[in-house]
Amino acid sequence: MTHLVIHELEGRFCDAIREAFNLEVSPQVVPATHERFGDYQANVAMGLAKELVQQTGKKTNPREVAQRIVEKLRVSDLAENVSIAGPGFINVTLSPRFVAERLGNMAADDRLAIPKVECPQRVVVDYSGPNIAKQMHVGHLRSTIIGDAISRVIEFLGHTVIRQNHVGDWGTQFGMLIAYLEESNLPIDSHIEDLEEFYRAAKARFDSNPGFQERARQTVVRLQGGGERERMLWQRIVEETRRHYLPIYERLGVKLTVADERGESFYNDMLPQVVEDLKKAGLAVESDGAIVVFTSGFENPLIIQKSDGGFLYATTDLAAIRYRIQVLGAKRIIYTHDSRQAQHFAQVFEVARRAGWADGVSLEFAPFGTMLGEDGKPFKTRSGDTVKLKDLLDEAEERAFSLVSEKNPALPEEQRRQIAKAVGIGGIKYADLSKDRISDYVFSWEKMLALDGNTAPYLQYAYARIRSIFRKGNIEELPGEGLELSAPEELRLGKHLLRFGEAIESVSTELKPHHLCTYLYELATRFTSFYENCPVLHADEPTRSRRLILCSLTARTIAQGLELLGIEHPEQM
Ligand code: ARG
Repeated sequence: MTHLVIHELEGRFCDAIREAFNLEVSPQVVPATHERFGDYQANVAMGLAKELVQQTGKKTNPREVAQRIVEKLRVSDLAENVSIAGPGFINVTLSPRFVAERLGNMAADDRLAIPKVECPQRVVVDYSGPNIAKQMHVGHLRSTIIGDAISRVIEFLGHTVIRQNHVGDWGTQFGMLIAYLEESNLPIDSHIEDLEEFYRAAKARFDSNPGFQERARQTVVRLQGGGERERMLWQRIVEETRRHYLPIYERLGVKLTVADERGESFYNDMLPQVVEDLKKAGLAVESDGAIVVFTSGFENPLIIQKSDGGFLYATTDLAAIRYRIQVLGAKRIIYTHDSRQAQHFAQVFEVARRAGWADGVSLEFAPFGTMLGEDGKPFKTRSGDTVKLKDLLDEAEERAFSLVSEKNPALPEEQRRQIAKAVGIGGIKYADLSKDRISDYVFSWEKMLALDGNTAPYLQYAYARIRSIFRKGNIEELPGEGLELSAPEELRLGKHLLRFGEAIESVSTELKPHHLCTYLYELATRFTSFYENCPVLHADEPTRSRRLILCSLTARTIAQGLELLGIEHPEQM
């Protein structure tokens, strides 16, 4: 199996350091901070020099350390130049021959020579989590998009991803909703068209009518006690909500299905045991009548049972962690949710760890910021309401359709609609994924649908343009061999192509899809300057074929990258 270039280099450096100093330390190989220094650099010398001073008591100069490493470094098969710079950075420049050879491997492999991990894990990704009887809002949109991209990437690397949609389908509000549904006498085969409206009406009745309030309370008790009629009405409300969000997943091209749904209600029967076990472990204590667990760093403890006996959001999450580890076999559990839930997850993780439920399991919260309007305030409609996802997606497709029609009026409407869907939905998703998820981000229609800049349409266009080269040239087969990189733009493009795996790997470890976006954007930019400077179809053989290999690899990489982000790539734009 071939390794990513960066890991190959790490290995070589480890060998050299072992030979020179008889030490096992990380060589700290990273991509070069600037192209003019080379392609990769090892930053180990500075730290190692300090360590040697401590060990030997003798002053050691980091440049000398670097020199001794370089003397032992065997990289002539892959590098054309190794140099020491500044205080002791070791810079490595790959040789064009090696790059060409690796690109050949990439071209010959369906996976573009991205290796699968050696030790696949079972990974649970908890994302989306809409609430029953409420519309999905833009916060759920971010969770859905980011969680889906992360899942795809981790899966591509060879892990088993278990998607879990932790829908909010339990709680006291169901008493009110069921009682209201009963009152409203909706025929059994009819739908609740506007859930928001239904919820509001139920709430208004609850707030103003004590008799109804009492009925709602009794209903919850019957529901939680397993009442059949209540359970049936509850089921109906759950299905009505599903009817609203499944089409949204479908339109977003998100991989969540009903089978991934494991809502709060699923854990209901496990909650008393969770509290019991935490009490036994000496973690849960009584405080003001409630059962709580104190955690480090937070003033407020985690409440797991209210004084009236009711359980909470946190109790359910604790049960879910245990289930995911013990039953689903998860070794890594990832939650992509709003950063406002940071304290909740920090406390839940700590309790699970201290209870000994999560030994050897990595619990990771990958938070995201708020989507803001162009006025810098949380994204709302003009009238100040929360934006319904459906309306947002409709508008994206409409706007994209006008753009596509303007650019390409000759295409049949059917095809323009298809492209508009890819561009509009892709635009929304990419705008979100391309920003560091930690920060809030400003939602702007103009920016996200722009044909230049770090946008979905730019990448989709780059892909379609390459495909059109192949259509124009009537090219079906490519020579597998004989790649050579002579023009500087060819080499720059080729080197970047080889770094696709690094981008994917960093998404999987840091859970930040924007690394992949930045990579793809840079790839498209390098392709553009290659294409401007190096004629392809008009070049003489063998140059023509060599350049076509680069074109094809670029298109395949963009396509694969967009697929990992869950974004379509039409053949034509
Ligand atoms: N339903 C929650 C919300 O709307 C999101 C669920 C997050 N997942 C979890 N395991 N708590 O905020």
